[in-house]
Amino acid sequence: MGKVSALQQKRSEYQPKLPPALRANNIKVELGAPTEPATHKDDIKKLFPNTYGQPVAKITSGDGLKTEALKVGVVLSGGQAPGGHNVIAGLFDALKAANRDSKLFGFLKGPGGVIKGKYIELTAEVIERYRNTGGFDMIMSGRDKIEKPEDLAACKQNFEDMDLDGLVIVGGDDSNTNAAMLAEHLRAEGSRTVIIGVPKTIDGDMKNEQIEASFGFDTACKTYSELIGNICRDATSAVKYWHFIRLMGRAASHVALECALQTQPNITLISEEIQEKGTTLQEIVDYVVDVIVKRSQAGKNYGILVVPEGLPEFISDIKTMIDELSAILGKDEHFIHALPSHEDRIQYLSGQLSDHSARVCSSLPQDIQEVLLRRDSHGNVPLSQVETERLLIDLVRDKIRAMKAHGEIKVKFSPLSHFFGYEGRCAAPSNFDADYCYSLGAAAAQLVRAGLTGYTANVQNVTKPSDQWVAGGTPVTMMLNMEVRKGKPTPVIKKALVELDGKPFKTFAANREDWALNDSYVFPGPIQYFGPSEVCDAPTVTLALEKGA
Ligand code: FBP
Repeated sequence: MGKVSALQQKRSEYQPKLPPALRANNIKVELGAPTEPATHKDDIKKLFPNTYGQPVAKITSGDGLKTEALKVGVVLSGGQAPGGHNVIAGLFDALKAANRDSKLFGFLKGPGGVIKGKYIELTAEVIERYRNTGGFDMIMSGRDKIEKPEDLAACKQNFEDMDLDGLVIVGGDDSNTNAAMLAEHLRAEGSRTVIIGVPKTIDGDMKNEQIEASFGFDTACKTYSELIGNICRDATSAVKYWHFIRLMGRAASHVALECALQTQPNITLISEEIQEKGTTLQEIVDYVVDVIVKRSQAGKNYGILVVPEGLPEFISDIKTMIDELSAILGKDEHFIHALPSHEDRIQYLSGQLSDHSARVCSSLPQDIQEVLLRRDSHGNVPLSQVETERLLIDLVRDKIRAMKAHGEIKVKFSPLSHFFGYEGRCAAPSNFDADYCYSLGAAAAQLVRAGLTGYTANVQNVTKPSDQWVAGGTPVTMMLNMEVRKGKPTPVIKKALVELDGKPFKTFAANREDWALNDSYVFPGPIQYFGPSEVCDAPTVTLALEKGA
């Protein structure tokens, strides 16, 4: 093994906390009443005839779970999120505690490894090296989708060859939806392998009444907030730069909102509000310039702006254009990408788009147009590649120049751009994520032992001390709704966006005028792993406000 830092060495000794039921020697799973999704019940029932309507599961102490040795697989799907290794450690420890002869296999490089049957056995020696570390490097991740009939059949065959009792899929809303589809397929085919999902994503958008948070959000937001706080300190020291910071997080603005609550920058754009108000790109620029001018008049030619990476999709005119593009790509993707040049593609699309969308499209710089034409394997626009912070800087600079030319204002505007994304995805998990992930892994093990399939593991009550945490499983079909993806109605877990009548947004909205003009910055500093509980164990502000903690 290579050199290990002093912190990693000490941190490997940290024993994550578990909910009481998962600490017990005897564990049982209680099943509640049948469930149903909030919408599209008939469509979802038709698509999931074997797994529709399953009851919510609660893990308690008692007897009744399988005690024979089990063979279980685990796969990490999609973008990295701090705590993934602890999910695996929690799963491993719980399986071994139930039967020393149980075995855990890690499928390599994401769902593609499940399809190809590429895996390694995760022994105690492997697990030890990764306890409480960030990253997914133990078995790596990937964005393949287990979707095509031949992929589903290959998985079933691989599970049979391995004599696998269960597979735990660690992923976000799309991967948990895939987990449900695989579970349905296996049950229909009479396979005995069960499928359990675990809610992962730094984006914070996989949450609902059952799933209080996706893991990794806590650590990623704390890491970005440390960096934003450092930049706020630099801004008030140098007093000459406006920092435009884009934060990862896909469509939802949870990451940006949480970081705003932690650091109180001058401007934070919240995509969901922009969508609700139908704000145009020009109106956003007008608002930003207004704050810059007011601060300048108060002698402050510096400031901090935070923008979520998902913003373009929520600006009314750009959103309409993206939707139209998605529908066209759904039909003609191969043809469009086979056209010889970017100009040819734009020319073709301009003929297909509505007049207004064609005008919006042609007004954007080529690098942004190129990104908007791409889709990942789940049909999402790869928003982390749209440099919205630079686009905003350009537009704001143009407007300030024009106002200066008319003699309207005197402003010094020296902007710097930043993008924080990958910096936070593999950070060593905070105590919260270390505990939460270990508990989710342990819960997944019990759901496999109970023979349940098509469930996402959950741990609830997480703003309370861990002896009040409660673990269980949520049937995935209960969380599904139908959405148009790549032009087709598709079952997916509903993405949680920022709720404008929720406490986190309201708290932000009540303070933003003050934060805009005054320097109310907060400097959270780095994540602490050792020390007083109030600096080491606090959950995110979002979670604390949502749960009234
Ligand atoms: P998922 O958890 O949904 O996989 O995404 C996490 C994420 O970090 C997003 O915030 C970001 O848009 C995306 O991954 C970037 O991933 P990639 O580097 O693969 O494009």
